[in-house]
Amino acid sequence: MCGIFAYLNYLTPKSRQEVLDLLVTGLKRLEYRGYDSTGVAIDSPDNKNIVMVKRTGKVKVLEEAIQEHFSGGEYSEPVLTHIGIAHTRWATHGVPCERNSHPHRSDEGNGFVVVHNGIITNYNDVKTFLSKRGYEFESDTDTEVFAKLVHHLWKTHPTYSFRELVEQAILQVEGAFAIAVKSKHFPGECVASRRSSPLLVGIKTKTRLATDHIPILYGKADDKKLNPDQDADSGKQQVLPRSESTSEFMPLEEKEVEYFFASDASAVIEHTNRVIYLEDDDVAAVRDGTLSIHRLKKSLDDPHAREITTLKMEIQQIMKGNYDYFMQKEIFEQPDSVVNTMRGRVRFDGNAIVLGGIKDYIPEIKRCRRLMLIGCGTSYHSAVATRQLLEELTELPVMVELASDFLDRNTPIFRDDVCFFISQSGETADTLMALRYCKQRGALIVGITNTVGSSICRESHCGVHINAGPEIGVASTKAYTSQFISLVMFALVMSEDRLSLQQRRLEILQALSKLADQIRAVLKLDSKVQELAKDLYQHKSLLIMGRGYNFATCLEGALKVKELTYMHSEGIMAGELKHGPLALVDDSMPVLMIVLRDPVYVKCMNALQQVTSRKGCPIIICEEGDEETQAFSSRHLEIPRTVDCLQGILTVIPMQLLSYHIAVLRGCDVDCPRNLAKSVTVE
Ligand code: AGP
Repeated sequence: MCGIFAYLNYLTPKSRQEVLDLLVTGLKRLEYRGYDSTGVAIDSPDNKNIVMVKRTGKVKVLEEAIQEHFSGGEYSEPVLTHIGIAHTRWATHGVPCERNSHPHRSDEGNGFVVVHNGIITNYNDVKTFLSKRGYEFESDTDTEVFAKLVHHLWKTHPTYSFRELVEQAILQVEGAFAIAVKSKHFPGECVASRRSSPLLVGIKTKTRLATDHIPILYGKADDKKLNPDQDADSGKQQVLPRSESTSEFMPLEEKEVEYFFASDASAVIEHTNRVIYLEDDDVAAVRDGTLSIHRLKKSLDDPHAREITTLKMEIQQIMKGNYDYFMQKEIFEQPDSVVNTMRGRVRFDGNAIVLGGIKDYIPEIKRCRRLMLIGCGTSYHSAVATRQLLEELTELPVMVELASDFLDRNTPIFRDDVCFFISQSGETADTLMALRYCKQRGALIVGITNTVGSSICRESHCGVHINAGPEIGVASTKAYTSQFISLVMFALVMSEDRLSLQQRRLEILQALSKLADQIRAVLKLDSKVQELAKDLYQHKSLLIMGRGYNFATCLEGALKVKELTYMHSEGIMAGELKHGPLALVDDSMPVLMIVLRDPVYVKCMNALQQVTSRKGCPIIICEEGDEETQAFSSRHLEIPRTVDCLQGILTVIPMQLLSYHIAVLRGCDVDCPRNLAKSVTVE
């Protein structure tokens, strides 16, 4: 998904070259979100104009173009106050090309330039309105209409402040956006806003900030729409209502200050850990170094201020360390990340579990009519992986749903439903829309996320933070195993007072205590998996078969192979083989089978024999020492034995490693697979 990064220095000397370095580094921290083009905008050396450079391709290409265009003495002169904006674009409207890259401008003179994440759904109407007033468009994007709309408002409302112009513009647009706007008519000012797409403001000062809150300034506004059909040359300007804020700005006592506007914290943490997470329809404005936050309308439960929070992540958490890729690092972090997920929650000595984020809601959840687990992609697979255990320990009906399909069906939801929304980023549009659908219908909303301050996190009634640490690689790995563990912990909490389940709970708790070491043991198979990848990477397809607690591993493994290697892969329920997929099997079709000593072992062995009797030569994931199973294939991966409901944590790791090695062998971009984004914030 696109990435926004903007940097404003106030009374803090920085050369344009230093600003450009900051902007490029900020974009590099956002690369993992997925993109296909980039761009920056800064003040011209004479401070009278805005200059931009935009390129398709990687940030490196932009960096080279900047060195070509913005070198020379005037760019190394320190500037006391300046605002630069930058963007990585993931194409939605208009193909990836320079013309469609951000920032987008209002006019030839670059009067207003904007960077935007999201989709403006009524952009055609706004475009028509502006075209009637003489605006000519140079790109195929929805974003360009925003820049030109602000310009139109500026021409027709010369007394408006920069912030008021942007406020009026966001009143006219529909859809999802996060935006940052700069203007040569308002030097040293930046205005930013969001609706359904994340945006935060980092604050860096020489001394500790005098406050932990920024008051919200409310205005009253009649959200009157511009009249697209109003006669363009009527001359009579439509007077728009203004938010009469009580006072334009609340002073921050600091003089030298730097602000960072970014799509997520990974672009800000190396500069400051003090951030404000903007909420939908907040308008953040910086003028004369002072940050203020405005909302046009005040609703009953609106707060009076936005909190300045302190980020917990450290810079090294988002760096690759001695790994070649973030994904590789995150695979190998799993012995630690699963422990972090359980830390402070699972008390192995007393066999107790406390989930602080939902404990007050457990009595209500126990009275519910059913549990619904909703997510997308890997997050959906974590629901599939834990469904059987949830049914066993909660004794409730459990539905697992792909968010997009759930919404397509207008699935009936009732007040006594409990709906879990599982999302690493906490910003996935389909999952967020499903959350709002269920919330409107009175269900209890439980968020299972990995991103503090994310929309799903904030809009849930309660939830569990999976504490996996920042996951940068587009392909989710440690978040999956941490989501898995979080749902297992929830199942254990729900059954703590069931006498008949105590033995089972004890067995699971003991297995959890050994998990980190067992994951380390599986990671030691890395070089063996790499050898298997050499057998597979030139094939076109890979079938992955299993059932019971390991069917989710087949789905997740197939997704990893698809998204990382661009090979076809399919997770197949082994019980379904005879109903069709067996026709795919012959001596040339790559097959991987998961066969562990669990309640469905015999059925899995049956499936294994079906495959080998058709000359299939499957790779087998089996338990250490299981010679009977190993006899069916010369290629097998032995994993430690654990309780059946946790096998999926151990069996997914060879799949993560296998997809990683195949991707490397195929020369794919491991951390930023083509066409994909880390957080899909558009439906
Ligand atoms: C997983 O490897 C993929 N990147 C993708 O399926 C992802 O799981 C899905 O988009 C959901 O993202 P979320 O967990 O941030 O909601």
